[in-house]
Amino acid sequence: MKKYFITGGCGFIGSNFVHYILRGKQDALVINLDKLTYAGNLKNLEQFENDERYIFYHGDICDQQIVRKIFVDHKPDYLINFAAESHVDRSIGKPDDFIQTDIFGAFTLLETAREHNIDRFIQISTDEVYGSIEKGSFSETDPLMPRNPYSASKAGADRLAYSYFATYDLPVIITRASNNFGPYQFPEKLIPLFVTNAMENEKLPIYGDGKNIRDWLYVSDHCAAIQYIADNGVIGEIYNIGGGNELTNLEITDIILEETNKPNSLKKFVQDRLGHDRRYSLNCDKLIALGWQPKHNFSQAMQSTINWYRDNEQWWKPLKSGEYLEYYKQNYKGL
Ligand code: NAD
Ligand code: TYD
Repeated sequence: MKKYFITGGCGFIGSNFVHYILRGKQDALVINLDKLTYAGNLKNLEQFENDERYIFYHGDICDQQIVRKIFVDHKPDYLINFAAESHVDRSIGKPDDFIQTDIFGAFTLLETAREHNIDRFIQISTDEVYGSIEKGSFSETDPLMPRNPYSASKAGADRLAYSYFATYDLPVIITRASNNFGPYQFPEKLIPLFVTNAMENEKLPIYGDGKNIRDWLYVSDHCAAIQYIADNGVIGEIYNIGGGNELTNLEITDIILEETNKPNSLKKFVQDRLGHDRRYSLNCDKLIALGWQPKHNFSQAMQSTINWYRDNEQWWKPLKSGEYLEYYKQNYKGL
């Protein structure tokens, strides 16, 4: 039986990964350590609450005591570090928690892993560490040029993880994925924000000219890639994971308006994000050579994502009130 120590498992990608493992692999134990920030939601995993293959710890990856306890009590095979502060706009407003969780938290996990046996330490990094690219695509050997506090803190963790491989032989692998979309994504990120705003007949705030480009990766493809890399990847290596679906924000907006049957008048151009990266693009030849590529068709994945938000209003409506609404009102966007 494989034992997975997952951090940030109550967030968007982490919870999809737990679903992926526990639905697909019967013979697994998942131990999830999550601080339950605004982005962590127990509802994402409530169907596993009584599943003996799932154990939840409420705690902080910066707290070495709880991290050590998990290592001692469960002797995990794989540690997969999803936990992070993950929203660029928040990092521009207040970088503090990004430095603490994304860098110091990764350090705490690495340092504790070094005290114990572990088969794989997977650091979930991001394509944003490369910075913006006008033409062509980034390969794993390209220099890092992060341009906002989120991507800079992720770059710090990414290189720190590598240093634990180079210096201490910790079996680290680093993944750098492109923008994910799918169920359970907090409705502050582009796709769930625009889908849920459209459903509520609220404006869709497009930053700048709307021509920034992201490469969209369906979250279940991302989960499959992480699993594949954990099992087959080479220790000490970095793997880009892209969806191969580069679209401008305006193209994404048009798809959402069409699929939700809402008028163009919901589009609202607002002030641009500070330091807004123009384009992200990944060369994924290395992962293809390892034997993996995404399987989902983009249009179908978008359709099923939009259907999920349509069918799960009880999941996202409470998230768009209270603390989130206060934050949104204070920070955005001339609505
Ligand atoms: P998310 O914000 O939805 O979830 C983050 C989770 O981490 C939450 O459950 C939160 O409670 C938890 N967390 C935060 N601080 C913690 C701490 N100190 N200790 C323990 N738990 C803590 O993020 P996401 O979109 O699911 O991203 C997951 C990972 O994937 C992140 O490392 C992110 O940088 C990376 N990534 C995300 C994308 C994307 O498009 N969302 C793309 C590439 C890489
Ligand atoms: P986001 O989902 O925040 O991901 P990231 O910044 O990490 O790529 O944003 C995706 C793109 O959408 C990015 O170019 C910024 C843009 N955007 C908007 O135009 N309006 C919005 O309200 C948000 C949240 C994002």
